[in-house]
Amino acid sequence: MRIHSHGDPSVIRAEDVPRPAPGPGEVLIRVAATSFNPSDAGLRAGLLRSVFAIDLPWTLGGEVAGTVVSTGAGVSAFAAGDAVIGRVDTGGTAAEYVTAAASTLVAAPTTVPLAHAAAVPIAGLTAWQAVFDHARLTPGRRVLVNGAGGGVGGFAVQLARHAGAHVIATAGPRSAATVRRLGADELIDYTTTPLALTEPVDAVLNLVATGSSAATLLPLIRPGGVLVSATVPFETPPGSPVPAVHFVARNDTAQLAALVKLIDAGTVQLDISATRPLTDLPAVHRDAEAGRTRGKIVLVP
Ligand SMILES: NC(=O)c1ccc[n+]([C@@H]2O[C@H](COP(=O)([O-])OP(=O)(O)OC[C@H]3O[C@@H](n4cnc5c(N)ncnc54)[C@H](OP(=O)(O)O)[C@@H]3O)[C@@H](O)[C@H]2O)c1
Repeated sequence: MRIHSHGDPSVIRAEDVPRPAPGPGEVLIRVAATSFNPSDAGLRAGLLRSVFAIDLPWTLGGEVAGTVVSTGAGVSAFAAGDAVIGRVDTGGTAAEYVTAAASTLVAAPTTVPLAHAAAVPIAGLTAWQAVFDHARLTPGRRVLVNGAGGGVGGFAVQLARHAGAHVIATAGPRSAATVRRLGADELIDYTTTPLALTEPVDAVLNLVATGSSAATLLPLIRPGGVLVSATVPFETPPGSPVPAVHFVARNDTAQLAALVKLIDAGTVQLDISATRPLTDLPAVHRDAEAGRTRGKIVLVP
């Protein structure tokens, strides 16, 4: 599924291109699935040009679950037939085959369907880094996950619980039951209830791009706590007792492998809201941009 120009979802086209060949250090993967992330829409629309330059035409897709078909020179970590997952920052996973650097991949979880595992790398690593690297949640901490119904939110709620934190989550009616099942201790329905807490939290993980402001979120956090945002950066007033951290997640195979272990242990579940054919990608972009999607959407070639 490729774009030849930036624009609305109609620029995404299904095209036949030659199967890529793995270069040194790379593997060729038969794609079981990729999954949608909001950044795919930003990339397609041309909104990320200043941070992530791409050459057109560009094959979409930034993460993969699949089976290794062949390996390039110097690859010893994987062999043909291995089931792998990974974040592929060079794109191209919205396809039947993709090449990726072996160093970016890990063994797929064995307890979930391989296609479902495509939901893990980007959302899972983002949640992992929010919970462990930036909020540094530990047992007994209180955290508010703002936007728990989304792809990142589902992982964030579970990882925060795994860290031993008390989890308060914002979710609308369509996601409330799932977010509760994934481990949220308290829910706030953001569609009906203003964001207010009786007791402050140690950290807010902000996963919502619009509608939140530093003025709304900072008063929810105790002095010495932290506001962690994976979406918009927040300005804090001079002398604010709560720092605001904005981060862009990075690929980290040690963290991804640790997450796979938690999935196989049954500690972390996947919140897959839909599995769709890859050729539905333009419709998925439209649905996501209209706010009609929740959880993770997996796309199967
Ligand atoms: N910094 C990074 O490296 C990085 C990496 C990945 C993602 N992101 C960003 O993080 C954000 C979340 O990503 P995602 O994949 O989780 O997105 P997503 O799956 O598209 O998020 C959709 C969810 O957002 C929830 N939502 C919408 N408005 C809300 C509000 N006002 N309050 C609470 N929840 C609200 C909806 O919840 P309900 O279903 O409950 O209505 C919906 O389920 C996106 O902006 C994405 O671009 C950043």
